Amino acid sequence: MGVSGRVAVVTGAASGQGRATSLQLAGEGALVAALDVDTVGLAGLVDELSDTGARCRAYQVDVSDSEAVLRAFAEIEADLGRAYVLAAAAAIYPPGTLSHLRDPEQTARIFDVNLMGVVHCASAATSQMIEEGHGGRIVLWSSIGAGAAIAGHAAYCAGKAAIEGLGRALAAELGPYGITVNTIAPGAIDTPMLGTPPDPAYFEVLPAGRAGTPEEVAHLVSYLCSDSSGFMTGAVLALDGGLSGVNGAVRPEV
Ligand SMILES: NC(=O)c1ccc[n+]([C@@H]2O[C@H](COP(=O)([O-])OP(=O)(O)OC[C@H]3O[C@@H](n4cnc5c(N)ncnc54)[C@H](O)[C@@H]3O)[C@@H](O)[C@H]2O)c1
Repeated sequence: MGVSGRVAVVTGAASGQGRATSLQLAGEGALVAALDVDTVGLAGLVDELSDTGARCRAYQVDVSDSEAVLRAFAEIEADLGRAYVLAAAAAIYPPGTLSHLRDPEQTARIFDVNLMGVVHCASAATSQMIEEGHGGRIVLWSSIGAGAAIAGHAAYCAGKAAIEGLGRALAAELGPYGITVNTIAPGAIDTPMLGTPPDPAYFEVLPAGRAGTPEEVAHLVSYLCSDSSGFMTGAVLALDGGLSGVNGAVRPEV
């Protein structure tokens, strides 16, 4: 059965990895609830999917607003049914200068969206999964920034490190309900968030030698949402072209 005929809630669905995840899961027959603040991007996703006959409904919601998230999940339940998948990709990565910690409002906003936004969605989704009683699949997004410094992005890195802790603890709590929780830690992925491509020197030390694509991430999400992945939970999965493995080593000439 997998995700076919089941409700998959995807946040950050208007762009990048959330969009690719929505297309992937919809292609597998999921009923996709696409959440984002970007109504234009959401409309584009719904248009693209309507041509394929897939079912997708868009919900404009700021995930940092706990009341708005609860309202959206109530609407999703009424429109499509209770959530079986939560893929929580929404996040912000404002341009850093030195450290966002010098700007308390910016710092709070990063934690509100990137950490509390995931907490609000995970809370609403697990209530529905537990009520439905058929287990569930939760996929969270961390970053290479959780385990390695990105200068100028202290709040982003701290929030992503917290996501990894959140994912492990939720996996332990939700295991008895048949709900798995895994976290993807991407490296550079070619989406609007990546912005200006990294310095070519970054790719020289990267075993893959290039940025990842949103579709490559979506395929991993697909596995994590499948029936085959029931033994995988509480994991943090690096999808970074090998960056975390080389740990700054220089790629030898070949
Ligand atoms: N692209 C990369 O290189 C990279 C690397 C590591 C981790 N990540 C992580 O991957 C995930 C997906 O990012 P992406 O690369 O697809 O970026 P993206 O910018 O293409 O997509 C992010 C989406 O989140 C939405 N969003 C932002 N704030 C929101 C809010 N308050 N409520 C609802 N939606 C909101 C945006 O509108 C956008 O559609 C993020 O969690 C990001 O931190 C990305």
